[in-house]
Amino acid sequence: MALGEGIGAWRHAAAHGVLLVVGLACLVIPFAASAPSEQATYGAAGPAFVLPPGTKRIDTHTHFIPEFYAEILKSKGLDSGGRAIPKWTPESHIELMDTIGVETAIISISTPGARLPGDDMEAGRKLARELNEYGHKVTVEYPGRFQFWATVTLPDVEGSVQEAIYALDTLKAAGVVLLANSEGEYLGSKKFDPLMEVLNERHAVVFVHPNSVPFAKVPDHIEDSMVPEFVMDFLLDTTRACANLIFKNVTGRYPNIRFILSHSGGFMPFAAYRMGGALSFLTKENAMKTMGLLKSFYVDTALSSSPSALPSTTQFVPHSHITFGSDFPFAPTFGIKIATSQLDQYQGLPSETKHLFNYDNANSLFDKSLSHWRTVWKAAAAAPATEENHDEL
Ligand SMILES: *[C@@H]1O[C@H](CO)[C@@H](O)[C@H](O)[C@H]1NC(C)=O
Repeated sequence: MALGEGIGAWRHAAAHGVLLVVGLACLVIPFAASAPSEQATYGAAGPAFVLPPGTKRIDTHTHFIPEFYAEILKSKGLDSGGRAIPKWTPESHIELMDTIGVETAIISISTPGARLPGDDMEAGRKLARELNEYGHKVTVEYPGRFQFWATVTLPDVEGSVQEAIYALDTLKAAGVVLLANSEGEYLGSKKFDPLMEVLNERHAVVFVHPNSVPFAKVPDHIEDSMVPEFVMDFLLDTTRACANLIFKNVTGRYPNIRFILSHSGGFMPFAAYRMGGALSFLTKENAMKTMGLLKSFYVDTALSSSPSALPSTTQFVPHSHITFGSDFPFAPTFGIKIATSQLDQYQGLPSETKHLFNYDNANSLFDKSLSHWRTVWKAAAAAPATEENHDEL
């Protein structure tokens, strides 16, 4: 998350007659002085998007929002880090995927996840189960187009362990999505070790998604307004989780887990030498080893493929550890097209490297390639799997 209502900020810039220059291809979007609507500026379909020939992608950062979940959030007056809950259907998702060349989307539930304010532990566990069953259903109904990251219920560790085992072993989820902090407790916390153990045993992939930061937003006491979290607090949330995973040596103790950090790891690549140096000083670990742990993280490109972000990311993160992300549907389609064009048009990388980011890196995260799943789900759609043939997958 999310450009989302960043549109509002862009409109603000528009009011000041600013030209926004995007990408090295100098795609220039002039904003009219009258702050026009998104629709009026871009048309219903957004700016023209040209898919470079031969491009195919796996999207590791993209979300599903089942109707029943949207209803629950609405009834509790919840949004997603300051972003209103957008409408989502598998069909609208596939339309976006086809536009930007995504073959398979690994869908996940965004913040606030399954543990909602006012709910008890059982309600959280039940919601997580329903969301995971739904994710699995979409995966089977559209063979090859979707896979899903399973939702768990941290800080409820026991429930999370049970749900992770069920989702990974029985539902064959691609991995799990964990929020950077859960009710103020960051990934890395020793409390979460039992979950890390289970994930480590299974060589699981963990998609780390930002949550609301557990402290006040940037206030303005005169105008009584706050900077919404999706503007930049989310990036801090992910960066904090990354630092804590190293500080508490989760990366050292559970080396089989592959972590994908959202949005290029927050600002980790930009701050890597400072973070690595400071963390090695604190943990008394060899500095090169600590830098190696920072480099062990995967990062996604969701809304982080700008001409100022990519140089830092690709300078620090190994090119085998960068995966494509769109942040649909929290990012508006026009924003996704701009961000994706920025990656496609970035002059600093050969097209072979971009293919790694777009496809190969995500595909090789899994023991079994996504094309294996395509076959499995096709068979499952034809004849629902039984307990026994689950084990053969
Ligand atoms: C982290 O854990 C690994 C594996 O147990 C261990 O070898 C290493 O010394 C630990 N690092 C620190 C800084 O405690």
